[in-house]
This record gives sequence, structure tokens and C-alpha cells, in this order.
Amino acid sequence: MDLAKKAAGEKAVEFIKDGMIVGLGTGSTVFYTLKRIGDLGLDIIGICTSVDTENKCKEFGIKIGDINEYVPEIAIDGADEVDPNKNLIKGGGGALTREKIVDYRAKELVVVVGENKLVDYLGQRFYLPVEVLPFCWKRVKSELEQMFEKVVKRDFVTDNKNYILDCYGRIEGPKTLERELNNIPGVVENGLFTKNTGRVVVGKDNGEVEII
Ligand code: 5RP
Repeated sequence: MDLAKKAAGEKAVEFIKDGMIVGLGTGSTVFYTLKRIGDLGLDIIGICTSVDTENKCKEFGIKIGDINEYVPEIAIDGADEVDPNKNLIKGGGGALTREKIVDYRAKELVVVVGENKLVDYLGQRFYLPVEVLPFCWKRVKSELEQMFEKVVKRDFVTDNKNYILDCYGRIEGPKTLERELNNIPGVVENGLFTKNTGRVVVGKDNGEVEII
């Protein structure tokens, strides 16, 4: 068990009350959030960011709502990197598009991470996932290769039936880059999250938690 992830994932449940509409992220840290919501029997409506999270909600007895009908009051989600300005890289689990759809619409995005996810700049340890249409993925890959050190197609199909291109290299100006990438025809979404992050719940390897 990863104590840091567990500590962060469970701590975030303190921000959730009965009756709330809650965006529910994807991944192994959010797993602990979902399990805790289930264990406490909290009566919420979860807006899920992946099929995997939907399945876990069913397992833990959490009601599921539709993003077309509800605006999340809060979203709880993991991240692959968090920079000092609370910009994020997300999409390690390939759920970035639905995550952004839900997380950006929530009144606050609460991020749950182990301390190893805090970085000085984005791209320091992780790659940037970009979801692309299968129709033109090779074309988009060539274009991304002009912008990044290395681009690798992941052996993975997203919940939206698209591909993921993982882009390696230091990210300068994440806000601008987020927009530029989404302007490339064939790009569905990218894993830069530069808006809406509120509290970041950081789990430590000793099980303690810091909120920044
Ligand atoms: C999935 C994500 C995850 O939130 C991110 O990869 C962090 O995952 P984990 O909590 O398992 O480390 O963005 O698309």
C-alpha cells in the first residue's frame, strides 16, 4: 500500500458533505477517496471521469450522476505532476479528457497527490499525455515532434476510443501551451491543467498530510 496516496486520498473526503455533487477523478490516489466515501456511507452524487471510476462507484455504493445534468460543487482528482503555481500534468491513467471536462466545471478542483508529485517545473519527471483521434494520429505525432524532445504513442485506447501520445520534455508556459496543443486539428485534449486548482492535498510517505 502507498501510504502517501492513501493519506491524501482519504483526507480529501473531509471536504465532502452529504448531498453534494462531487466530481470524481481517476487513479490510484482517488481510489482511496472513493473507498472512504463508500465506507462512510456518504450520500453524494458522483460525476465520474472514467469508466474505471464508474465501476468503483458501483462497487462502493456511490450514486452516479451525469455531467449534462449536474455542476460539481467540488472535484477530487489526482495528478502526475504539480508545479509551484498549481499547474498540473494529468492523464497518466489516460482519463485526461473526461477529467478536464469535469474538473474545469467544478467550483473547486481539489488535487490529491503523494509528495513525489511536487515538481519545480512541469515535464521534470513525467511526460505530457495528449489524446488524439485515431484518424490522424501519425500526422499529429509528427507535429508534436516539432514541439517536444520525444513523442511516444501509448499502447492504449481511451474511454472515448482515441489514442494517447506521450510527449517528453520541459514545459515552458503551460497556460499558452495548453491552448496551442488544443488548436492542433486532431487533438482532442491535453493533460495540462492550468485552471481551477484550489487546495492540493499532499500525502507524505510517513502518512502525514499537508494542504497547500
Ligand atoms: C488519470 C490521471 C491520474 O489522476 C493521475 O495519473 C494520477 O494517478 P495516481 O493517483 O494513480 O498516481 O490523471 O488520467
